[in-house]
Amino acid sequence: MAAHGRKKRNGPMKRERALGVHSLDRFGYEVPNLAVAEAFHRAFGLDVGEEGGALAIRTTHGPHRWGTIMEGPRKRLHHLSFGLFEEDLPGFARRLQRLGVARIDPPKGLESNGIWLRDHDGTAIEVKVADKVSPAAKKYPRAAHAEPGYGASPKRSLSGRTHPQRLSHVLLFTASVDKAIEFYTRVLGLRVSDRSASDIVFLHAPHGSDHHVIAFLRSGGPGFHHSSWAVNSVHEIGIGAERMAEQGHAAGWGVGRHVLGSNYFYYVRDPWGSYCEYSYDIDFIPADVDWRSGDYGPEDSFYVWGPKPPADFGTNFELA
Ligand SMILES: [Fe+2]
Repeated sequence: MAAHGRKKRNGPMKRERALGVHSLDRFGYEVPNLAVAEAFHRAFGLDVGEEGGALAIRTTHGPHRWGTIMEGPRKRLHHLSFGLFEEDLPGFARRLQRLGVARIDPPKGLESNGIWLRDHDGTAIEVKVADKVSPAAKKYPRAAHAEPGYGASPKRSLSGRTHPQRLSHVLLFTASVDKAIEFYTRVLGLRVSDRSASDIVFLHAPHGSDHHVIAFLRSGGPGFHHSSWAVNSVHEIGIGAERMAEQGHAAGWGVGRHVLGSNYFYYVRDPWGSYCEYSYDIDFIPADVDWRSGDYGPEDSFYVWGPKPPADFGTNFELA
């Protein structure tokens, strides 16, 4: 099917001879006040509900639970959960044994039949058999709505609000980008998309995913920098930013365009100094494409255009 003159490309849903997780299924972090977290994420346009004493984060577009926010003494990264094809489970268990990666008990309140381990920073990681929730194909932009002779913009009074489609990725802080690459490629089977020295790395899943399902930024230790949510257009990014500002969340960064991953962005600062990102048109890496990964200098690894980021944009507020 043609979209903007290009052939829509539907590659295989699984990379041959690649043993690795196919999706980032869920993130989990703690905050000191669940009511504040609920109000913020609802304002951002997500579906938030209380489940088992924690907040379950979904979009309004489907039943998948993308995030869990638990109550704790301070805001803190808690765990990540990745999805694996069922047929890959025995091979994955053998790999853990071969690499000598110890299994741990599930964190309290997260009892599951997934495999739990610790990453290079000590963060709890679950690998479980789950549906693939990373995209199966590139989603092409829709054509402009207005014909010549008609106005394309909605009335401001009728401009509505933004409801993200799905989680795209998370960015975590780490004590060591190199150790993060080692763990997430060797153990989980993710692949390096692009990096900037040992300052930041972007990783994709082997069976078709966004340019990054997870990225790591160098810091003094682990932490949760942002969750990124896919929306349908630059217009939806702008509307999201506008509505958040109206609701008291004017602090953030954007609108701009990233270099690595190519997505247009606006980051809304949350009450703990981390961010929720509206993201549009991130690069897609099909299961049968070997991405030509690069190592880029600082100028070519951050953003193409946009306002200057806030001075503390890269600060890990979880380092007490
Ligand atoms: Fe992002």
